[in-house]
Amino acid sequence: MVFLSRYDMYALPRYDEVRAAATDWQTFSSARGVFVDRDVNAQLEGITLCSDPPEHTAMRSVLGRPLRADRMREVTPRIETEADEVVERVVSRGRCEVVTELAEHLPMTVVSELVGLPEHGREKMLEWAAAIWNTQGPADERAAAAGPAVQEFMSFAMNEAVPGKIEPVGWAAQLYEAADRGEIAHDKCPVMMLDYITPSLDTTVLAIANTVALFAEHPDQWDLLRNDRSLIPHAINESLRLESPVPQFSRVLTEDHVIGGVELSAGSRVALLYASANRDERHYPEPTRFDITRRPSDHLAFGRGEHVCVGMHLARLEMSALLERLADRVTRFEILDSRPMINNGLRGFDHLNVAFESASA
Ligand code: HEM
Repeated sequence: MVFLSRYDMYALPRYDEVRAAATDWQTFSSARGVFVDRDVNAQLEGITLCSDPPEHTAMRSVLGRPLRADRMREVTPRIETEADEVVERVVSRGRCEVVTELAEHLPMTVVSELVGLPEHGREKMLEWAAAIWNTQGPADERAAAAGPAVQEFMSFAMNEAVPGKIEPVGWAAQLYEAADRGEIAHDKCPVMMLDYITPSLDTTVLAIANTVALFAEHPDQWDLLRNDRSLIPHAINESLRLESPVPQFSRVLTEDHVIGGVELSAGSRVALLYASANRDERHYPEPTRFDITRRPSDHLAFGRGEHVCVGMHLARLEMSALLERLADRVTRFEILDSRPMINNGLRGFDHLNVAFESASA
């Protein structure tokens, strides 16, 4: 465990400690926010991500309804069709900028449509989401620069993403219907919109781009996957383990608690370093090796416990549809150039230019 004096918080880098904390919400509470910045934590108290049971349970069950594993069948045909189209388009050109031309496609077409925001909102979703991730803190220049976009989003959520203006059958509309039935409070609906928009886009975009980059760097692993498609779910897990798009979220201790022989007092903020835990050599031998036969289904890239990612089935579906199509069409990826994304809450590529060697070439 490490004390980050600059941010007045502790950080857990090891797998066992992170997993234990994530699965003990009674001691490691989300209700005082899960971010680095104190003010943002105060402002966002009470959203699904920043709450504990029983409030959390009620919100999560409404939010997660369209995202349950058994509901994915309904969206699979649409996702597969879009995956076919986008892969065909970029591969036939021989090269593409993976982030904007390939990875953003499914979240921006399918997910934004499923949420059902008015058109103006759909166009802005990525910009708003990136800004919201940046405002999580620390309170640096990036967080400050993101302020206006976050305000714009909040005003949109309160005034535009409301019944009558949103698509009548989308996820956003279902939030308001659940409120009408008394399952959640009406005033929770605008902030719960945050839960659909912030974590559903960049996370998946980054995960897709990271996966392409890993296969470009490890052509032997791409050959394995092309020869055995049953490895796709394991490849997705291994990519998320090795290059986790969400490096951390934090919790606040509800009571004094001993971690690694050190007693921390109630009220301490503790970061659960998911990305670091996923590279803990005590848990994953040779942790920096990309090995799609490793089958690390216990990775922590989606978190664990009460707050485990509610959108993970959708994220996996998007990633697997793209990998299936890419495996049909591409024999090799070559990275032409890349640029990391600099964001306070996310990690991955901002820009990834790749050339394809095509199967039919
Ligand atoms: C590869 C893509 C994704 C990654 C890496 C990811 C990562 C995470 C992580 C680490 C958490 C845990 C938060 C915590 O510990 O406090 C989380 C929660 C969450 N994710 Fe995801 N996510 C992804 C995709 C999605 C998608 C596609 C959606 C929605 C459509 C989504 C919606 C959510 C929501 C609403 C929560 C909060 C759940 C709760 O507090 O109960 N995520 N995600």
